[in-house]
Amino acid sequence: MSQVVEKPSARPVTPLGILAKQLETILQTLNQQTSDELLANLNQAWLLAAGLDPYLEECTTRESPALAALAQKTAHEGWSQRFHEGATVRELEQEMLSGHVEGQTLKMFIHMTKARKVLEVGMFTGYSALAMAEALPPDGELVACEVDPYTAEFAQAAFRESPHGAKIRVEVGAALETLEKLSTVGESFDFVFIDADKREYVKYFQTLLDKDLLIPGGFLCVDNTLLQGQVYLSTENRTPNGEAIAQFNRVVATDARVEQVLLPLRDGLTIIRRLP
Ligand SMILES: C[S@@+](CC[C@H](N)C(=O)[O-])C[C@H]1O[C@@H](n2cnc3c(N)ncnc32)[C@H](O)[C@@H]1O
Repeated sequence: MSQVVEKPSARPVTPLGILAKQLETILQTLNQQTSDELLANLNQAWLLAAGLDPYLEECTTRESPALAALAQKTAHEGWSQRFHEGATVRELEQEMLSGHVEGQTLKMFIHMTKARKVLEVGMFTGYSALAMAEALPPDGELVACEVDPYTAEFAQAAFRESPHGAKIRVEVGAALETLEKLSTVGESFDFVFIDADKREYVKYFQTLLDKDLLIPGGFLCVDNTLLQGQVYLSTENRTPNGEAIAQFNRVVATDARVEQVLLPLRDGLTIIRRLP
């Protein structure tokens, strides 16, 4: 059932992935004096954590050949080298790609909401954009914002290989400037996916609502809202991104214009509905 995609091993970047890695490390370092029962319990805890993501993959509809090829190409790109050569304007990494289960989730949301006009803030190599475009009707449109020109071209090359790529319009530039531009020409969207600079999440959210870029009754999905667990762990070890997401989650929770739910999918996915 599951599709085996060979790719260089990625470091864990979700609360569950980090937990599984920590349990694995603890198991490996435990010495002989440890009681068998403790070792068995720890092993069971590790299996529970480590087995969930692969099982979700296995039970989720296979990604299209175009998406599988894009994930593989992204995993094999030398992102660090590209940055040091000056090809990319910032250091990017394969772990940024949302992937099979989240892509299929977004695709389902597009089907469920019957969205026709979608906005993505933070495209990277285009995996989530293409997944959502696959669910759009033939006359649907997805506008994807990406600040890095190299990555934007990488994505567009993949879009040209897919029958759904023509539904995607790429806007290269800083997302807040693009949002301003889209608002000036009177564009609006019935579904938005935010996945760009965590420290700008509050501004994306407020701009989308204040400038009516998200229609009343429209949906907004926001990625990484658990930020590796930092939002609910001690504030001592919070990174600037962790602090930004914690603040974003507070802002959303107190905004009377929306209702929302935070799902523990991968690194956290918040679904927000703009009240009509
Ligand atoms: C986590 S990745 C997006 C992953 C993508 N949605 C996917 O699922 O494959 C974040 C992307 O946002 C871009 N980005 C960061 N800050 C941005 C900004 N201010 N404006 C536009 N894009 C930005 C980065 O260059 C990066 O490609």
